Amino acid sequence: MKRKVTKAVFPVAGLGTRFLPATKSVPKEIMTLVDRPLIQYAIDEARAAGIEDFIFVTSRGKSALEDYFDLAPDLENALRKAGKTELLKALRDTNMDSGAIAYIRQHKPLGLGHAVSCARKLIGNEPFAVILPDDVIAGETPCLQQMVEAYQETGGSMVAALEVSPSQASSYGVLDVSSQDGSLVRVRGMVEKPAAGTAPSNLAVIGRYILSPRVLQNFSKIERGAGGEIQLTDAIAHELTEGRDVFGYLFDGKRFDCGSKAGFLQATVAFALARDELRDELAAFLDTLHTQRQAAQ
Ligand code: G1P
Repeated sequence: MKRKVTKAVFPVAGLGTRFLPATKSVPKEIMTLVDRPLIQYAIDEARAAGIEDFIFVTSRGKSALEDYFDLAPDLENALRKAGKTELLKALRDTNMDSGAIAYIRQHKPLGLGHAVSCARKLIGNEPFAVILPDDVIAGETPCLQQMVEAYQETGGSMVAALEVSPSQASSYGVLDVSSQDGSLVRVRGMVEKPAAGTAPSNLAVIGRYILSPRVLQNFSKIERGAGGEIQLTDAIAHELTEGRDVFGYLFDGKRFDCGSKAGFLQATVAFALARDELRDELAAFLDTLHTQRQAAQ
């Protein structure tokens, strides 16, 4: 049986305080890596994985996101008249089909799990994906596509997993693993932001999920977790309590933490170096900086 995953939830309600003052008026997800907003990378990855319905969980102050996904007929006309066909194509590639996007408001910042649960009526009784746009993953095959392919074999629920250093584990959801088969690990427990030194492994959850709709029912059965918030990790872990499968998927690709300034800058440089028109100039500049830094030491 082909297990279709056609809906994805994008939790984008966060305040983006780490990027203030920029995020005072610009949603974090509109901030750009080279010339594309973070959210565009997430949408492109979802589309490549076969997602057809895009559910944004937003909050006050995020209307720029809705505008971004609107058609821009005046701009398209101007580009067409000016014969700027490449820019026109770049713009058109951002267009979404009418009815493909839904926006739901999370009225109170009660946590990632709560944000996802706000989308429950739109998800209904189907498996669904969750993409955290802060986690940008560069790779030959987009991460969610890799997971959708693996999910055809496994069913259950699946989270993207990445090995991190022990000192970083307390910043993530962390997997307790019972066995491994290639890229797939079987999960027997999950802890959100474990206290230093208590993490069950070095395998962190990264912001890509394929979830059974039953996870949505778990929100009524769990308490507030780490940071006093309703955690997605806890709702997924509850699947294990009820005897259902959860897998971790060790994806191929390089993940950037664009929720932090250092990660965002690294992603900017890496994506710029991947572009033919920018590579040489930027690489020469980085070389010069490096040489100057060494000379100053
Ligand atoms: C969220 C999740 C966490 C996960 C992380 C990945 O945490 O709660 O389980 O490991 O994303 O980026 P946040 O970064 O929002 O604190």
